[in-house]
Amino acid sequence: MIITIDGPASAGKGTLAQSLSQKYQMAYFDTGMVYRAVGLKLVLKGISPDNESEAEKAALSLDFPQMINLSKEADFRSDVGGRAASIVAANPAVRTALLKMQQDFANNPVFGDGTPAKGAIYDGRDTGTVVCPNADIKLYVTASPEVRAERRHKEFLAKGINKTFEEVLAQIKERDERDQQRAAAPLKPADDAIIIDTSIYDAKQVFNKVCEIIDSFQKKLEK
Ligand code: DC
Repeated sequence: MIITIDGPASAGKGTLAQSLSQKYQMAYFDTGMVYRAVGLKLVLKGISPDNESEAEKAALSLDFPQMINLSKEADFRSDVGGRAASIVAANPAVRTALLKMQQDFANNPVFGDGTPAKGAIYDGRDTGTVVCPNADIKLYVTASPEVRAERRHKEFLAKGINKTFEEVLAQIKERDERDQQRAAAPLKPADDAIIIDTSIYDAKQVFNKVCEIIDSFQKKLEK
């Protein structure tokens, strides 16, 4: 079984995908990592993420072990890494170069330790529209920019990072704009995606709702 979860930054996709991966014993692929890895490769070499040919080269040479190594770098999840990822993700040549690596995972889903899994859960922006257009269940998880900024702001405060709510909101809006306006694979729900607005449900309610969707899909398969 393949499940895709797309949606904007800080909508709750990762939390949902990880809980589902545990419950249904499915391997989890956070596809934002491939773009973060390419962006960070450039940043670490002092090359601008806007440099299109260098970004394509960095994408063509990326593999899973390199991505895992880069994910241990301090800036992988920082604003610097997020911004670089969002810039390289707007480059069509980078997206093409990273497509096969993402699609291959559906054919051979494995957990972090290499053991085979029953299926895969993708989390990203275009996993239901481009990466796995034939996925069994497609979800589009979203929330208003203000709600997402509030969540991110709380995370920053908990980590002792001093930023105002307005700064966080402006960054979220900038990222949304870049993800939605880019010509290559812009962020949008697949035509057959189920839309889940997490502004009105908490994480537990969202998880329960999605479990009902998966259980009813599995029951139909058994018939
Ligand atoms: O989900 P994230 O914040 O780790 O994603 C980092 C950037 O990568 C984000 O700006 C959008 C981009 N991305 C994408 O274009 N397509 C995906 N499938 C996943 C992420």
